[in-house]
Amino acid sequence: MAIPASFKDELIARSDILDIVSDYVTLTPKGGSYWGLCPFHGEKTPSFHVLPDRQLYHCFGCGKGGGVISFIMDVENLPFLDAMRLLAKRAGMEFPEGEMDEGNRRKRTRLLSLNKEVARFFHSQLVSPVGQAGLDYLRRRGLSKQIITRFGLGFAPESWDSLLKAMAQKGYDKRDLLDAGLAVSNQKGAIYDRFRNRVMFPIIDLRGDVIGFGGRVLGDGTPKYLNSPDSVVFNKSRNLFALNLAKNTKLGRIILTEGYMDTISLYQSGFDCAVASLGTALTADHAKLLSRFTKEVVICYDADSAGIQAANRAIPMLEKTGLKVRVLRVTGAKDPDEFLKKYGPDAFSRLLDQSENYVEYNLRQLQSNYDLSDPVQKTEFARAGAEILAQLDSPVEREVYAGQLSEITGIGKSALLQEIQRVRDIRLRTAKKKQTRREMIPVNQIQPKNRQLRYENPRSARAEEGILRLLMLDGSLVSQTQGLEPSQFSSPVLGKIYGILLGHLSQGRSLQLGALEGELEGEEITLLAHILGQPVAMEHSAAAMIDYRAVIEREAMRRQNTNDEAVLLAARDTYRKKKSISQGDG
Ligand code: CTP
Ligand code: MN
Repeated sequence: MAIPASFKDELIARSDILDIVSDYVTLTPKGGSYWGLCPFHGEKTPSFHVLPDRQLYHCFGCGKGGGVISFIMDVENLPFLDAMRLLAKRAGMEFPEGEMDEGNRRKRTRLLSLNKEVARFFHSQLVSPVGQAGLDYLRRRGLSKQIITRFGLGFAPESWDSLLKAMAQKGYDKRDLLDAGLAVSNQKGAIYDRFRNRVMFPIIDLRGDVIGFGGRVLGDGTPKYLNSPDSVVFNKSRNLFALNLAKNTKLGRIILTEGYMDTISLYQSGFDCAVASLGTALTADHAKLLSRFTKEVVICYDADSAGIQAANRAIPMLEKTGLKVRVLRVTGAKDPDEFLKKYGPDAFSRLLDQSENYVEYNLRQLQSNYDLSDPVQKTEFARAGAEILAQLDSPVEREVYAGQLSEITGIGKSALLQEIQRVRDIRLRTAKKKQTRREMIPVNQIQPKNRQLRYENPRSARAEEGILRLLMLDGSLVSQTQGLEPSQFSSPVLGKIYGILLGHLSQGRSLQLGALEGELEGEEITLLAHILGQPVAMEHSAAAMIDYRAVIEREAMRRQNTNDEAVLLAARDTYRKKKSISQGDG
C-alpha cells in the first residue's frame, strides 16, 4: 500500500489504545488490564478488556480482538484507510492523501485488469489438453458445459510458474501478481504461482470485475479450497460469490449457502438466486449488502453441526437489517449440492416452500420425534420445545411461540412460559460460571475460531504462538530465532505473521499489533490479539524461545520425514507396477 511505513508507525505510537477505547467504553482497572462492557455484542457483565502494555483489546464473550486500527474499524464500521484517517486526525497528524489516492487508484485498475486476464487464462487452460483433469473433475461432479462457461470456471495447471509466465507476456510483473495474491514468495525470495493443479472459481463483484479466486483441489488433498487473500481489490467480508447473478433473479428471495459448489449446483437446477460467502463466516456487511437486493434470505447451510451453528449466528445478523429470514435444512444429504444430486430440483423446491422461520422449523423437527398421544412423550416434547423457545431473546416472540406450543400439546401457555423462564435462568447461571472459569485460565489452548486457520499440529502451533508473543513483546529476542524460517512453522497463518515480524524487524519498524494490522486479514488479527493477550513471564523469555524453537524444528523435521516416506512409498509402488507390466508383456 502506498502509505509510508514511517507514517503508520508514528500514528500507532501516538494512538494509545486505552485512550481511544475509553472514548467508547467505560473501563475499570482490574489486575493490570481494563474491563468494560463489550461494544460489539450485548452483555450485562464485562468480558471485554484492554491490555495497555500490549496495545490490544479482546472480548471473551464474542471473541473480537485486535489493535487500535481494528478497534476503530469495528466500532465506527469503517474500512481500514478511513480508520487510519480518523486516528490521524485525532493524533493531529496529516494523512498523506496525495500519495495514497493516485497510487491506490492506479494499483486498483491494474490489479482488476490483471485478474480479468488471469480468469481468461484459467478458463482457456480448462478447455485445453493441459486442463483435461480439471474438466473431467467438474464434469464428474455433474456440471454442464454451459454452467462451467457461465461461471467462467477455470484450471490452474500443475506448474510453479505457468501463470507468472503467461502474465509476463501480457506485461504484468511479479510484483503485480504478488499484490493480487496470485503469486507467493518463500523466505528465500523465490516467487511462484499460488494456485497449482486446482479448478478455479473466479469471484466477481457487482460491477462485473473479477476481484479474486477460489481454487479447489481435484481430489482429497488439503487445503480443499485455497482463496485469494484480501487485497486492494478483494475483501471477503464485503463480497459474496455469485451476487452479481443473484441480484437479477425473479424468484423474489436469495438463497445463502456455504459453498461455491452449492451455489453453482443451485443455478444449474434453475435456482438463479443463490450466493455463497467466501470461506469466512457471514458478516454484518454481508447482511447489509444482501438487504440491498432482496427482502427475504433463505439460509441453506450444510446439515452438519458447524452449518447449524453458522446459521444460528447468521440469523440475528440478517434480521437486524430488516430482512425476512428463513432456514432450509437439507435432510438426507450433507449439503444442498448433494441434496440436488440425490433428490432433484423438485424435491428442493418443496423444501424451499416449506422452509419456515427458524423457530417453527425447529419445533416441527422436534415434534416428529415424539408420539403426542402418549402423555409421557407429550410432556417430554413440551419440555424440549421450551428449551428451543428459551433461545429467543424477545419476550414477545416467546409469548407467541409458547401459544403455538400450547396449541400443539394442549398444555397451558402459562405453564410453558414458566418452564421457558426456568431454562433461561439456568442458562444464564452456567454462562456466567463458564465466563469466570475462562477468565481464570486465559491460557487455555483453543483452536482458532475460523475454519481456515485451524491448526494441523497443535503442539508445534503452541510453540509458534509462543515465539510470536515473545517477539512482539521484545524484538531483541529475535537473536534466539536466527535461521528459523517461516516455512518451518506448521501453521501457515502463524508462519505468515512470523515472516511479517521479521520484515518489520529488519526495517527497524514497530512490532505493535496496530502496526501489523494492514498486513493481516480480520480473522488473523483476531487470532493474533488472542495469542498476544495470554500471560507471559518475561524473565524466562530467552529460555522459552529456545524451547519453542526446538519444538518447531523437531515437528518440522518429523513432517519432512513423513513426506519423504510418502514419496518413497509412491516411487516404490510405481516401480512395482511398471515391473509387473513389463513382466506381463514379456
Ligand atoms: N472453504 C475454504 N477453505 C477450506 C474449506 C472450505 O475456504 N479449506 C470454503 C469454500 O469457500 C467452500 C466453503 O468454505 O466453498 C464450504 O466448504 P465445503 O462445504 O467444504 O465446500 P463445498 O463448496 O461444499 O465444496 P465441495 O462440494 O467441493 O466439497
Ligand atoms: Mn459443502
